[in-house]
Amino acid sequence: MSNSETLQVRVKSMAWEADGILSYELWPEPPRKALPPFSAGSHIDVHLPNGLIRNYSLLNAPHERHRYVIGVNKDPNSRGGSRYLHEVLRPGDTLAISAPRNNFPLEESAPLSVFIAGGIGITPILGMIRRLQALGRHWQLHYAARTRRNAGFLDAVQALRDDANAEVQLCFDREPGGRMLDIAGIVRALPASAHVYCCGPLPMLEAFEQATTGLPPAQVHREYFAARESAATEGGFTVELARSGRSVEVQAGQTILDCLLGQGIEPPYSCQEGICGTCEVRVLDGVPDHRDLVLSEADKAANQRMMICCSGARSRKLVLDL
Ligand code: FES
Repeated sequence: MSNSETLQVRVKSMAWEADGILSYELWPEPPRKALPPFSAGSHIDVHLPNGLIRNYSLLNAPHERHRYVIGVNKDPNSRGGSRYLHEVLRPGDTLAISAPRNNFPLEESAPLSVFIAGGIGITPILGMIRRLQALGRHWQLHYAARTRRNAGFLDAVQALRDDANAEVQLCFDREPGGRMLDIAGIVRALPASAHVYCCGPLPMLEAFEQATTGLPPAQVHREYFAARESAATEGGFTVELARSGRSVEVQAGQTILDCLLGQGIEPPYSCQEGICGTCEVRVLDGVPDHRDLVLSEADKAANQRMMICCSGARSRKLVLDL
């Protein structure tokens, strides 16, 4: 299945998980067909009938092939994605989705995995913990939300406390006596060989980035739900499409993706924020101006791949494998 192909699923059930958070169980359509396998930390693109594409992490156990389960936070500033899922989509409806893709992989061999989750950021981490449980590995979870009523999947998280290999810390900063999660303290206490993961709102991820600057990059993992910086729209460079031999001029005010779509060229894309990895393209020549949150710093320095929805060019010309 290529990046741009979709498969059909049916909404088998929906459940209330917390204030503003619903979960959706998606079964293959037609039924009894196995869904593509996925690894812990994967997400799918959901293609909504209103034309929007949104990415949601898979939170069920990665060995399951009969269903995908996603959690959706209703964004008060929704541009129609989470609002559609909450207000329009109902059990029995069908949806087009992408095959799972993983920008937040789990290091399964780590002697200890430490997870820091904020709000809906718990979703990929639940799938990771279920995988570590299947492997009998040691893990810790630090889960923060404003209050218990805002904490999605709290029952599932509480049940994880029964795992003898686990340590679970809950933190509700807007409850009486509540406090903020001490991310710097958690990172300071990590054993040298631990891998640490964070998924949550931007301020949490910024605190995590700051706290982990001294750690080996290979042991630090994060997933963003929103862009951290604006897309490169300065324009003023040429993009040569190696496969077709076409060239396009990216104008000021456009991303590379905007420019290509305007020329009737339709590369795969989804979030348009540099967080999902759908629009990744191989760079054959030139120097990108990387603005995404998918590639590691080492990948960015190598200049062999780029996200064309948000990244621009530092060179006068880019040659892309398109
Ligand atoms: S479309 Fe999601 S990273 Fe570009």
